[in-house]
Amino acid sequence: MMKITAPDLHCGMGRLQKSLIPFLGLVLAFCFYSARENFKPEMLKGKRVIVTGASTGIGEQMAYHLARMGSHILVTARTEAKLQKVVERCLKLGAASAQLVSGSMEDMAFAEHVVKEAENLMGGLDMLILNHIGKSYFSYFDGDVGHVQKLLQINFLSYVAMTVSALPMLKESGGSIVVVSSMAESAMKAAADVVLMSPAPKEECALEIIKGGALRQREVYYKYASTKIPLLIRDWAAEFLDYLVRKRYNVENLKKN
Ligand SMILES: NC(=O)c1ccc[n+]([C@@H]2O[C@H](COP(=O)([O-])OP(=O)(O)OC[C@H]3O[C@@H](n4cnc5c(N)ncnc54)[C@H](OP(=O)(O)O)[C@@H]3O)[C@@H](O)[C@H]2O)c1
Repeated sequence: MMKITAPDLHCGMGRLQKSLIPFLGLVLAFCFYSARENFKPEMLKGKRVIVTGASTGIGEQMAYHLARMGSHILVTARTEAKLQKVVERCLKLGAASAQLVSGSMEDMAFAEHVVKEAENLMGGLDMLILNHIGKSYFSYFDGDVGHVQKLLQINFLSYVAMTVSALPMLKESGGSIVVVSSMAESAMKAAADVVLMSPAPKEECALEIIKGGALRQREVYYKYASTKIPLLIRDWAAEFLDYLVRKRYNVENLKKN
């Protein structure tokens, strides 16, 4: 007959715990991810959406996706003629309604005015997509603090001003705020001869942003590997990331700018 001693029992329990805890973790992770809602275009049907920076680029493409899904859309940027064309195309694609407000996000009163217009024109708001970005030169910093201040107003303060103005309407509708940001890729356009990478397709990127907003995802990385991995490396080995980034820059061309 085999005799089971207290240390044997303790050891068995320890092994069980070691395998049980990861197993339970996997079960919980599976439940969490499988319970997630899937995206359906109908989620945006009839929703009232503001898209900033919608005269071109990713913002323009988001407006077209929303139009195909049957949303009410309010687009904004500085160039009214381009916005007019976006509105016309949105209506052709099936938008429930499409309207524009033109002006510069350098002016906080304009940022607030756009939100007010959403209330006047659409009767409320379900999604605020903050996407506009002020242009910057791509070279070594020349000490122009005024330029930085202007960029902060366009790329940061106007986002805050619009969010604060939109909150009452978003609370009422149970809506969402989508903030589009970039790791470095927008700089690539200003520096095609300096950065040795090509940008990802804007139509697909626009759709991923809308899906993330509709599903209320905390963060969406596009393209996942090329954005998420460098961010992880930044946290664990910032100098190695600097080295990788420098390898992708043609620094000789940068000096000429
Ligand atoms: N392109 C990329 O590869 C990439 C990658 C990752 C993330 N992103 C992010 O995606 C967003 C859109 O990028 P994008 O490449 O589509 O930009 P984009 O093509 O340069 O378009 C920028 C938009 O912002 C508007 N805008 C610029 N200055 C403004 C101002 N002072 N006031 C109001 N509107 C202004 C522009 O219209 P007007 O000139 O008519 O005002 C335009 O509609 C940005 O937040 C960017 O950081 C882009």
